[in-house]
Amino acid sequence: MNLVDEILKLKEEKNAIILAHNYQLPEIQDIADFVGDSLELARKSQRIDADIIVFAGVDFMAETAKILNPQKKVLLPSKRATCVMANMLKIEHILEAKRRYPEASVVLYVNTTAETKAYADVTVTSANAVKIVQKLDADEIIFGPDNNLAYYVAERTNKKIIPIPEGGHCYVHKKFTIEDVERAMTVYPKAKLMVHPECNPEVQEKADLIVSTGGMVRNACLYDEWVVFTEKEMVYRLKKLYPNKRFYPANEDAFCIGMKSITLKHIYESLRDEKYEIEVPKDIAERARKAIERMLKLSD
Ligand code: 13P
Ligand code: SF4
Repeated sequence: MNLVDEILKLKEEKNAIILAHNYQLPEIQDIADFVGDSLELARKSQRIDADIIVFAGVDFMAETAKILNPQKKVLLPSKRATCVMANMLKIEHILEAKRRYPEASVVLYVNTTAETKAYADVTVTSANAVKIVQKLDADEIIFGPDNNLAYYVAERTNKKIIPIPEGGHCYVHKKFTIEDVERAMTVYPKAKLMVHPECNPEVQEKADLIVSTGGMVRNACLYDEWVVFTEKEMVYRLKKLYPNKRFYPANEDAFCIGMKSITLKHIYESLRDEKYEIEVPKDIAERARKAIERMLKLSD
């Protein structure tokens, strides 16, 4: 059986579409209808005319697509496709911060569970966090769960940023160290450094460009040679889009287990058996939707 042919056939039969994040395996990026960062995927999910969305990404991304499209069937092909960082933030962390800073707005990274999003005034992605925080009326911002993205936003706005939970981080981006920066500069002296804002502050400070994965796609045209400080599959995506440029992973060990838990076979089985369907309780979905829709409005 040719998995790719079977997937294409099922997609057609069931009027389904495959959305994939930039960190997905190359063979999944290759069969996807759309590949993008978390903001682009959320936007795309609102504009598609399909009955089924197969989401090749992690659970919070599929949940966001479901919240924005309650009438559509949204499938996550693997039960292990989760974001470790999103699971670090609990409702209690938000309530505790609210008790200490009652005037603060609650700004949550989309890398959060639907139930915590229900407590957010607005969500953000790494592509729009600075813009949105700047636009809010509040001077104090409770920001979770990525402490490094909180640092990035604090450096670029005049707001008091209160990071929650203590030590919230992405283990993939935490791997990049100043030694990786030094090695990159020695081995590839002509290359520029593109860095995701989930990386540590000392790595951010050495970057030529700090952007979301979608920002990497858009800005790679600026120079011919780049060292890429994010999940390793981003290099595949960039090389495919810019075959005449050079991209090097800053650290080959930086891979996201949740993203990599999805294989072509999972996509095929997901379409065939219509599994695993994402469900978000109605009351949580309604509250989370307000925060996500506010993000989409403010980032225009
Ligand atoms: P992007 O929105 O930049 O694609 O980031 C999502 C993510 O999970 C980064 O680790
Ligand atoms: Fe979550 Fe990090 Fe994986 Fe992104 S790379 S999905 S933040 S664990």
